Amino acid sequence: MLVTSVSVRVPAKINLQLAVGPLRPDGYHDLVTLFHALSLFDEVTVTSAEIDSVRVTGEGAALVPEDGDNLALRAVRALRKALAQRSGATGGGAGSGALASSGVAVTIDKRIPVAGGMAGGSADAAAAIVACNELWDAGLSQQELCAVGGEVGSDVAFAVVGGTAIGRGRGEQLTSAESAASATYHWVVALADGHLPTPRVYGELDRQRGDREVAEPELSAELMAALSAGDLVRLGAALSNDLQEPALTLFPALRKTLDAGREAGALGALVSGSGPTCFFLAGSAAEATTLAVALSSAGVCRSVTTATGPVPGATVVEMS
Ligand code: C5P
Repeated sequence: MLVTSVSVRVPAKINLQLAVGPLRPDGYHDLVTLFHALSLFDEVTVTSAEIDSVRVTGEGAALVPEDGDNLALRAVRALRKALAQRSGATGGGAGSGALASSGVAVTIDKRIPVAGGMAGGSADAAAAIVACNELWDAGLSQQELCAVGGEVGSDVAFAVVGGTAIGRGRGEQLTSAESAASATYHWVVALADGHLPTPRVYGELDRQRGDREVAEPELSAELMAALSAGDLVRLGAALSNDLQEPALTLFPALRKTLDAGREAGALGALVSGSGPTCFFLAGSAAEATTLAVALSSAGVCRSVTTATGPVPGATVVEMS
């Protein structure tokens, strides 16, 4: 069957730990993070077309560029380039070559908040790479797809893989942490009324650190032990994020959101990545619902949703 359209479902991420090291000469920061994929999904459909295009619908769609800057289209171009290099190296003749040189129409249905610290743009890039790998019958392995994704953005490789994973370097060098985080966890996600561009939050962190010596980031042994033991109280207490203070400085209203969640019984409360989304650990599905209702009625955020994790990374859901 000639495939002309592929749909991929891709999850949001939270960082159970985000430890940020010194600013690197290339403008990035070395980090150690524990990524965790949540059941809050975008759906990306890629269809064969004459030329590349992208259309975005759903949550926050107006904020996403519908041109070549769109991360999903950048990912399509990165995959094309990788395939061209591969077929050059193997003397051509790869079946995917002709398919990859034609265009794709990408449609993105968003549920993951835009500029919310949940890697929504990276998720769409990951989904586009996974979808085009099928559409073009390119046959790249997950590891090869991650390498292409890593060029597009720091969180793209994780969105390909999903689950729970340790990220190093810019965040693109992954090691699975599935064996430690084997349980299902219940989370509440509070979407903020506003956005925080990631580079601004990293910039504020650098400003707050000033000339202080910054240690190399390290994985939290306490967090990993809490996960291995399946101890929710320890896990809640061990959540940490070096970007939280800068995010709170730039978006002070988030303090109220975090406090409201803690007062309503959350086992842990943290800003997600560079924010402004906040997430909360609940003891069970029922407690997550109670917590979500409490946060909604406290009027401390734009909307609230419950989610579970870990969930798999970008997954093909339809091909035609
Ligand atoms: O890689 P990505 O495009 O997602 O990163 C967005 C921005 O976040 C970068 O331009 C940089 O300012 C900041 N960043 C960083 N260190 C990282 C990841 C991101 O400083 N490890």
